[in-house]
Amino acid sequence: MEFSVKNGSVEKQRTACVVVGVYESRRLSAAAEQLDQLSEGYLSGLLRRGYLEGKAGQTLLLHSVPNVLADRVLLVGCGKERELNERQYKQIIQKSVQVLQETGSMEAVSFLTELHVKGRSTYWNVRFAIEAIHESLYAYNDFKSIKPEVRRELKKMVFNVANRKELAEAERAVEQGKAVACGVNFAKNVANCPPNVCNPAYLAELAKGLAKEYSTIKTTIIDEKIMAKEGMNAYLAVSRGSHNEAFMSIIEYKNHPDKNAKPIVLVGKGLTFDSGGISIKPAESMDEMKYDMGGAASVYGTMKAIAEMNLPLNVIGVLAGCENMADGNAYRPGDILTTMSGLTVEVLNTDAEGRLVLCDTLTYVERFEPELVIDIATLTGACMIALGSHNSGLMSTHNPLAHELLNAAEQADDKAWRLPLGEEYQEQLKSNFADLANIGGRLGGAITAGQFLSNFTKKYHWAHLDIAGTAWKSGVTKGATGRPVPLLTQFLINRVEG
Ligand code: BES
Ligand code: MN
Ligand code: ZN
Repeated sequence: MEFSVKNGSVEKQRTACVVVGVYESRRLSAAAEQLDQLSEGYLSGLLRRGYLEGKAGQTLLLHSVPNVLADRVLLVGCGKERELNERQYKQIIQKSVQVLQETGSMEAVSFLTELHVKGRSTYWNVRFAIEAIHESLYAYNDFKSIKPEVRRELKKMVFNVANRKELAEAERAVEQGKAVACGVNFAKNVANCPPNVCNPAYLAELAKGLAKEYSTIKTTIIDEKIMAKEGMNAYLAVSRGSHNEAFMSIIEYKNHPDKNAKPIVLVGKGLTFDSGGISIKPAESMDEMKYDMGGAASVYGTMKAIAEMNLPLNVIGVLAGCENMADGNAYRPGDILTTMSGLTVEVLNTDAEGRLVLCDTLTYVERFEPELVIDIATLTGACMIALGSHNSGLMSTHNPLAHELLNAAEQADDKAWRLPLGEEYQEQLKSNFADLANIGGRLGGAITAGQFLSNFTKKYHWAHLDIAGTAWKSGVTKGATGRPVPLLTQFLINRVEG
């Protein structure tokens, strides 16, 4: 779909459809007011007769409105004017696109971007509109032999801004919104891909694909042989029960004006399937463990987004691809592993595999002398219990970095909530036989997992995002969310724009 912005007046729009808002109860937005005057009270007449109350999400499609050049006018209910927030705004946008799709408008000019969303600017209205539209148009049909088709697809969407002076920021919002949405879509596609196709080798192929597509990107693949040489025994232990070899992809995006600028490193947990291993998971919903590579998918999507925007930064994305299976060669509870850092770990549960793959990856990335490292992982069911599915869990040993990420999360409307770390929690990770145990008991499971990782991140500033609750949705709308691509991309945009 094509997006653009302009600053025009509603009566001059020669288009298939103009979209304008109506607040509760029957209060016309500025653009609707103009149309009403032009049509000599046609709109207000309809409202008076009770056709539309203005409740959020209500719509009324009008044909041949007197004196109006556009073929149609779509009135969209916006709820109470003073209560319009991000969530409602996105719902209103999505509803309007749904109606446009169903009624065969191939292009439209929307004035909904002129609405006032609490605490947000025109920039955000345009960006959220683009992200929300992609969200509602997304479908994963790669494996359906009978594909649903849309008759006359919406092809072009123009957003109007109230003031000429806002055009520059609106155009920046289009560019950045498109990049974020593209990153989200790519992340969703990889994550939704079935685990018999999307295995560690497949992730590595995708990583190599980025290097082919962008001259700013170079990709290196670390296979099991190299991992063995590096002493990445914890990572390798997890992979041992699988017939699919592990691959760690290093995606180097180099575009900082200072070529020697230290890189920002993003590490994504890439368990293309997590059966639990010998500590096998129950059968229910086990299919959803194909999403255990959601962290890697989000790193991949973020690399795509920043390459699209050509951000002047040095960023290294690492996809820690691996599969956790149970067979005769699998690692077992009781095994003691010597990690790449030298610390030994007693395996008490083979289903706590993410931290084992990540601890070696976090040691591996020390060689890049990172400015900072963020790992993103569907790490613990406990994080879902603690925060539900709306906030990702954020843990960090560096307060400024934590605040920067929380700020980006707020801006991008891709929420995160901080959980503590600390030496108290380290007590729970004591082992009678090794330096660390790989589980910390029932209490504070998301935190002890983060605490475990913190033992391997002493050489740099570090933050950890547990996305177990946010990376995908279950139930009838089962599917990847593409989170936290918006958060990560915003964090990186902020690093440039300050
Ligand atoms: N990938 C899972 C975490 C997970 C489970 C995410 C369910 C989303 C939904 C992770 O590898 C895991 O199995 N964690 C265990 C840790 C436990 C054994 C300490 C968990 O959360 O149960
Ligand atoms: Mn597991
Ligand atoms: Zn896992």
